[in-house]
Amino acid sequence: MERDVRRIIEDELRRPTLFKNRESLAPEYVPDALPYRDEELRSLASYFRHLVTDPGSIAQRVLVTGGLGTGKTTLVRMFATGFTHVARERGVSLDYIHVNCYRSRTLFSIVHDAASQLGLTTPSRGFSPREIVDMILSFLEENDRYAIMVLDDFHYFASVVGRESVYFIARMHEAGDGSRRLNLVFISANTSTTGFFDPVTESYLDRHVVRLQPYSSSQLLGILRYRARLAFQDDAYDEEALEFIAEYEGVDKNGEGNARHALTTLLVAGDIAEREGARRLTVEHVRKAISRLSREIERVSDAIRYSPLHELLLLLSIVRLLRRRNVKGVEMGEVEEEYRLLCNTYGETPRRHTQLYEYVRNLRRLGIVDTTVKNVENRGRTTIISIPYGPLEELEKYLDALIWRKKDVEY
Ligand SMILES: Nc1ncnc2c1ncn2[C@@H]1O[C@H](COP(=O)(O)OP(=O)(O)O)[C@@H](O)[C@H]1O
Ligand SMILES: [Mg+2]
Repeated sequence: MERDVRRIIEDELRRPTLFKNRESLAPEYVPDALPYRDEELRSLASYFRHLVTDPGSIAQRVLVTGGLGTGKTTLVRMFATGFTHVARERGVSLDYIHVNCYRSRTLFSIVHDAASQLGLTTPSRGFSPREIVDMILSFLEENDRYAIMVLDDFHYFASVVGRESVYFIARMHEAGDGSRRLNLVFISANTSTTGFFDPVTESYLDRHVVRLQPYSSSQLLGILRYRARLAFQDDAYDEEALEFIAEYEGVDKNGEGNARHALTTLLVAGDIAEREGARRLTVEHVRKAISRLSREIERVSDAIRYSPLHELLLLLSIVRLLRRRNVKGVEMGEVEEEYRLLCNTYGETPRRHTQLYEYVRNLRRLGIVDTTVKNVENRGRTTIISIPYGPLEELEKYLDALIWRKKDVEY
């Protein structure tokens, strides 16, 4: 081997790394403790105590609300896992079902997902949602089991389906034999009153609600300290860097109080520090991370994490075209062409026009793209697609990584 080549490789290998466990800053990571949420955990336990003291007495329904990154998903996961465990110790067979409404977008896929989490095999067509729910209820009844079913990011489902589907979910436990065995937790990001349930359900949920407040700077500092200890080597970061993020994000300092954003900022700052070959993560790295991260892209990344592969490919085509042309909006026809080229590079068979339109509609509902219709001379009407925020460079990187990850899972 060339001497220089070896020297560079060895240098790189010797270079100290700041991270000890980078994964522990990822949004998917489930921490083993959830500081500052004891009261909320207690409320949940009290709403569901009947499952242990008097199982089958009622079918509980609870609403958990709060802004993005206030810990809704983590809180409910932790509660349901822990509660299931405790109930089983006391002889109650309790199952925990977690349905993500960004992933399961229709009534059918929600109940189908719930059934398969219970281990029921239901064919993916040929049954109505009602029939599948009945199967779930009689399964619970026949086996003397109970379930807590969580509908995460339910506001998204409510915004894309009709009222009847929302009513159906809210009341699906009411018919049939096992009607008091299925308990529901709705998680919604809307902080004001939900407004999408029927009046009776609405007023019930109003009395059975857990509201998560945005985090203050000092709470965020506590969270950041805890996660930084897991993620970085000892002495690899300045305490001031954590303080800087906590103050930037804390609701008392006009931030959003979003823990996810705070943790992602720390992760990106760590990556920047590593790439620069720094020995410690400092405030300057945090400043760079903040300027690189756009809030909207953070929000978008949450919404598209579960999008189907081809919806992502279509979005990536939009992003690439917008960047290359450096324009505000691009025509649907051009996007489709770009998409077909992209499919080629990724080794995918392109989807048809009607399906692509459906993806665009969905991306618009998610607030990721905007569309307008324009009359074009001699060509009739055409749809113009735009992305009214930025920078798109980060979004493109994120999409590309997400697409490869999805392809890995598929094959
Ligand atoms: N009290 C807390 N302590 C530690 N980590 C937290 C806390 N609240 C939120 N987090 C972290 O912040 C991130 C966002 O939480 P999440 O539950 O996904 O929020 P939401 O569902 O409300 O958007 C996760 O990585 C989670 O681990
Ligand atoms: Mg969530």
